[in-house]
Amino acid sequence: MATASPRVHGGPDAAGVPRWDFSTNANACGPCPAALAAVQVADVCHYPDPSYRLLKARLAEWHGVDPRRIVLAASGSEAIFRLTAWVAQGGGRTVHLPPAAYGDYASAAEAWGLERRSQATGAALAWACDPSSPLGQTDDRWPAWLRAGSDRPGVVVLDCAYAPLRLEGLHGGADRDKDHVWQLWTPNKALGLTGVRGAYLIAPKGAEDAVSALERLSPSWPVGAHGAAMLQAWTTGEVQTWLEHSRATLRTWKASQLARLSGLGWECLPSVANFYCARPTGGGLSPDAAQRWRQDGIKLRDAASLGLPGWWRLSVQPPEAQDALAQTLQATSGTARQGVAA
Ligand SMILES: Cc1ncc(COP(=O)(O)O)c(C=O)c1O
Repeated sequence: MATASPRVHGGPDAAGVPRWDFSTNANACGPCPAALAAVQVADVCHYPDPSYRLLKARLAEWHGVDPRRIVLAASGSEAIFRLTAWVAQGGGRTVHLPPAAYGDYASAAEAWGLERRSQATGAALAWACDPSSPLGQTDDRWPAWLRAGSDRPGVVVLDCAYAPLRLEGLHGGADRDKDHVWQLWTPNKALGLTGVRGAYLIAPKGAEDAVSALERLSPSWPVGAHGAAMLQAWTTGEVQTWLEHSRATLRTWKASQLARLSGLGWECLPSVANFYCARPTGGGLSPDAAQRWRQDGIKLRDAASLGLPGWWRLSVQPPEAQDALAQTLQATSGTARQGVAA
């Protein structure tokens, strides 16, 4: 029997929740108080409405789309696997992934035996992510795919997981282009509630048949009471205002975190999001560096499994976490210059 490749993720591990966690991209200002309160009072004594009619209507209204375009999913990861299963079920055999990307696109493709293509054109399924992960950069390749005529990928998915955590610039493509792709939204990261599972897809305009096919591939009640409460809260003005304020805070924290890391001799790649990739200039990390950081309560995301060996992905964290990071990096790399880490 084939064994699945192990999935690597940031965040809690066998040693528990890291004290200073730079390894997931969850909004470090979170949890969002209003969203958390909604989750805490969710009615867990009853099944959610299996049709999720009101929730879909609310999400659709908020995005300004027809409610028939909304597909609820147990999580972003579940949506990735379900979309891939649907493409494979329809006879699709090829997939295009961004060169560096969230591992579940590849895991799902592998599970369904899809062959990887380096070009999106001609692929049965093509993934884009804006801002991308792990790099946190604008992904503006996908609008051109839509105009590739008969060579257009069969299904184009735009992963919007980090769109709410974009700290600068505009998304790639025009708004109207989004009507021709599948959009994946998973707000738990933006709200700092990654333990709450629940996400949704917005289907391309006119793709009602595809929506029905995806619903058929779903178990009943894919989203529980907590996820439904989070998604409902997501569309409220209070939550969106909190998010906007949190982005302002993240911008300030990001500037100081980048300055401190550069001062410690790390090279940081440009990013428009609340995370970025970095590595010590000239290498020089001992092989057990990550283990030693973890013992100090610090966790960074090794970007190797995301397609960037030698790089680390760091999310933006508050000043006290930056202090802890600076101390640990000074101790483990010995490259710090006096004064910059203070
Ligand atoms: C780019 C991207 N998309 C989707 C997901 C899946 O998110 P979730 O399963 O928490 O909804 C992740 C998780 O880290 C991600 O990084």
